[in-house]
Amino acid sequence: MITLENVSKTYSTGSPALNNINLKIESGEFVFIVGNSGSGKSTLIKLLLKELEPTSGKIYVNNRYINKLSRKKLPMLRRDIGVVFQDFRLLNDRNVYDNIAFAMKVVEAPQRQIRSKVLAMLSMVGLLDKYRSFPKQMSGGEQQRVALARALVNEPKILLADEPTGNLDPDNAWEIMKLLEEINNKGTTVVVVTHNLEIVKYMKKRVITIQDGNIISDEDMREDVHGGDEDED
Ligand SMILES: Nc1ncnc2c1ncn2[C@@H]1O[C@H](COP(=O)(O)OP(=O)(O)OP(=O)(O)O)[C@@H](O)[C@H]1O
Ligand SMILES: [Mg+2]
Repeated sequence: MITLENVSKTYSTGSPALNNINLKIESGEFVFIVGNSGSGKSTLIKLLLKELEPTSGKIYVNNRYINKLSRKKLPMLRRDIGVVFQDFRLLNDRNVYDNIAFAMKVVEAPQRQIRSKVLAMLSMVGLLDKYRSFPKQMSGGEQQRVALARALVNEPKILLADEPTGNLDPDNAWEIMKLLEEINNKGTTVVVVTHNLEIVKYMKKRVITIQDGNIISDEDMREDVHGGDEDED
């Protein structure tokens, strides 16, 4: 689903933000990416979206070699990827309904599908009653849920979430994580960047740790894959 081969990214100003990264994420996985501030997590997400170009190395997303993807084909790539940013990036001059509907209009979804789909997403994130509110009238947690609804409305194959719980209190953070898990259970590949190690520990997923642009560990914490040949006591 996602493959990085010897990928490096050096910004024009400095030392490598990512340094020869090799990584494979299979379809249907739930992966956390953790690491200190400045370690390269957001750079990685932006490379997958082709918001940035790698300095070297090969990137495949959805079995497409995206390095050479033309500008014309970029919408095709992004249609398959839902993204949640830490700062939400909602449109402040549109209400909640229109924020989500906009994502469908961009990909030219048929008009008759839009209404039912947007309402279904709002229901999923528990915000049906707020569909006419504007982002600025909502709490951080509510805005985050709108952003999630928007990211999922086109049924992407991959969801990338960069610090989706960064601005949330613990209750709201857990709620978002549960939603991400549900979405993953329905088949979407989920990649979550987070600083919240408590949540990471509890969720028991694959955890990739980045430090100074290098992957320093890649651990599978799922309960059902351990045991067997390992003697625990
Ligand atoms: N547009 C840019 N121009 C130059 N350097 C950048 C740019 N964006 C990021 N960097 C540098 O690249 C490195 C990795 O940044 P990145 O944003 O990927 O880190 P991060 O792991 O997402 O950190 P955080 O947890 O704080 O969000 C940092 O040293 C950062 O200063
Ligand atoms: Mg970041």
